[in-house]
Amino acid sequence: MVDVVLGLQWGDEGKGKIVDVLTPRYDVVARFQGGPNAGHSLEFGGNKYVLNTIPSGIFHEHCINVIGNGVVIDPVSLKKEIDKASATGVNIKKSLYISEKAHVILPTHRLVDAASEAHKGDHKVGSTLRGISPTYQDKIGRSGMRIGDLLSSDFTQKYQSTVAIHKKLLDSFNYEYNLADHEPAFFEAVEFIKQFKIINSEYFINDLIFKGKKVLAEGAQGTLLDIDFGSYPFVTSSNTITGGACSGLGIAPQKIEKVYGIFKAYCTRVGNGPFPTEQENETGEKLRALGHEFGATTGRPRRTGWLDLPTLRYAIMLNGVTDLICTKSDVLCGFEEVLVCDEYKINSTLTKEIPFNMLDGILEPQYKTFKGWAGNLSVMRKYLELPETFRQYMDFVEREIGVPVNVISVGPDREETILR
Ligand code: GDP
Ligand code: IMO
Ligand code: MG
Repeated sequence: MVDVVLGLQWGDEGKGKIVDVLTPRYDVVARFQGGPNAGHSLEFGGNKYVLNTIPSGIFHEHCINVIGNGVVIDPVSLKKEIDKASATGVNIKKSLYISEKAHVILPTHRLVDAASEAHKGDHKVGSTLRGISPTYQDKIGRSGMRIGDLLSSDFTQKYQSTVAIHKKLLDSFNYEYNLADHEPAFFEAVEFIKQFKIINSEYFINDLIFKGKKVLAEGAQGTLLDIDFGSYPFVTSSNTITGGACSGLGIAPQKIEKVYGIFKAYCTRVGNGPFPTEQENETGEKLRALGHEFGATTGRPRRTGWLDLPTLRYAIMLNGVTDLICTKSDVLCGFEEVLVCDEYKINSTLTKEIPFNMLDGILEPQYKTFKGWAGNLSVMRKYLELPETFRQYMDFVEREIGVPVNVISVGPDREETILR
C-alpha cells in the first residue's frame, strides 16, 4: 500500500524532516510533483541537509528513492544535489531511480521564468525562478522534453527546436540573456544524469506494491499552493494534493491508505499572494527570528502569521488527511499569548469557508487567544511531558478540525519528535 506525506499550508511545513523520521517504516520513498523549487531540510547527527529533487528517504540505506513522473527535473540542480549527497557517503547510484516520464527543466525554462516574472512587475507571483511554471506549461502544451528523451538519438534536435520557441518568447519579453552562459553546465549534467537508473517508474512502483513493499509518497510545496485549489494565481504549477500522488506516480487511488498532513503551529508563506493571518509587526518578526523562517531554497525571508483553521480544514478536506503532524510548536515558546484564527469575517458575515478570491473585499480573521507555553520542548519525548497550555491549544485544534494530531515535532532534528 501507499501512504502520502504532504504540506497543508504554503509549503515549508517540515516535510523533509517528517519523511526522514517515517522512512524506517517504508521500503520506498517517492517524490510525486514539483521540482527544485522545493527545499526539504533534514537534520541528524549534528548535520543539516537540504534536498530539492532527491526524495527525503535518501539517507536511509535500505530505502529505494524514486523521482516520479510528476516531478520536473533540472539536470544541473540534480547533479549538484547528487554530488553533495554522495560526498556524505550515500550510494546514490544504488538507491535513486528516476522516471523516464519526468519532464526536464531546460536553461531556457529558467530564463522564461525570470522574464515572465519581470514582465508581471508588481503582480509577480514571487516564483523561485527555478523554471517550474514554463516547464509545466510545456508539459501541458505537449511540447516538453522528458528524461527519457535524454537517451534518444534525436535529443539534440528536440532540444534545439524547443529552445527555438523559448527564444521567440524571450524576445517578445525583450529579455536580455546569454544562453552560452548556461548550456555547457546543462549538457554536462545531462551526460551525468544518464548514468543513473532511468526507469518506467509506474511499473516499478506498482510491482513493488504487488510484492507487499511499503511506499511513502512525498509531496512538495503545500495545499494552498496547489494549481487548482491554492490562492490562484499565487500558486505553483502542479497538484500538490493527494490526487497529485496518483497522477505523479501512476498509483491507483484505492492503493492509498494513510495521508499524513503536516502543518506548522503557525503559518508562513514565501512569495506573494493572500495570507489572512499574516503579522506584519513585531509578532511576525519574532516568529521569523525564533523559527529561522528563511527559505531553504532561495534564502528569502518567509512571511509569518498565526495558525489559520479555515485554510487547514479546507486542506484536510481536499487531501483526505487521516493523520495530522504538527511541527515547530517549540518556536512558540516564550509567546505570552498564542492566537488561532477560527473563522473569517467577510463584509460583516462570519464564515469558515475560503472565498473565491481571498483578496476581494476585507477579510478579517477572527481569533481565539490561548495562554502561551514555556520550557524547552525540544528535549521532551512524551506527549504528557508537554506544557498543559500547549496541550489545551492542541485539544482545541483537534476538536475544531476533527482529525487526530498523531505526531508533534519539537525541533529540526530527527530525534526531536513525539509520536503519540
Ligand atoms: P519542507 O519544505 O516542508 O521540508 O520544510 P523546510 O525544510 O523548507 O522548512 C522547515 C524548517 O523548519 C527547516 O529548517 C527544518 O529544519 C525546521 N524544522 C522542522 N521541524 C521543526 C520543528 O519541529 N521545530 C523547529 N524549531 N524547526 C523545525
Ligand atoms: P517546499 O517543498 C514554499 C512558492 C514560491 C512562489 C510560488 C510559485 O520546500 O515546501 P514556483 O517557483 O513554484 O513557480 O513559485 O510558490 N513556492 C514555495 N514556497 N515552499 C516551497 O516548497 C515552495 N515551492 C514554491 O515562493 O510563491
Ligand atoms: Mg521547504
